[in-house]
Amino acid sequence: METNATDTFELSEEARAEIDRVVPRYPEIRSAALPVLYIVQGEKGYLSNEAIEWVSARLELEPINIYELVTFYPMLLREPTGKRHVKVCRTLSCALNGAYRVCDRFREAFDCELDEVSPDGAVTVEYVECIASCHTAPVVQIDEELYHNVDEDRTEELIQMIRSETKSGS
Ligand code: FES
Repeated sequence: METNATDTFELSEEARAEIDRVVPRYPEIRSAALPVLYIVQGEKGYLSNEAIEWVSARLELEPINIYELVTFYPMLLREPTGKRHVKVCRTLSCALNGAYRVCDRFREAFDCELDEVSPDGAVTVEYVECIASCHTAPVVQIDEELYHNVDEDRTEELIQMIRSETKSGS
């Protein structure tokens, strides 16, 4: 018998139940795509081709409809990331206030290249464009949390925070 992504994609019962709760809230099933993608990404860490196909089948859409969303929204991830996802804003206010130094320090501390998972799996560090907090530049987002006025001392504090949180396997 033929199998497809819907048959083989593994998702916890909890995530499936959450999706079953979320989908009927939308009058148009297609409008549920973003929340469903968030639930899947929340469990898997990123959205593989298999995940995209599963979501499209679940929502009775074509895979291209879901690919379009995943490639459009930068918060939807196509690759696995480290345990913490560090995003350093590099748009003008942040760039002028030291964003490049901040990013270099994160990369040095975790011995990683931009956009790649650090060897210890703790972080992925990347640049992003303006995240709408220019008055508190430079700004760093770690997972969903924003950190403002990230000067040298604050950078070191954040590095220590990540080290202590990730070494316990969280
Ligand atoms: S320029 Fe960095 S938050 Fe706007």
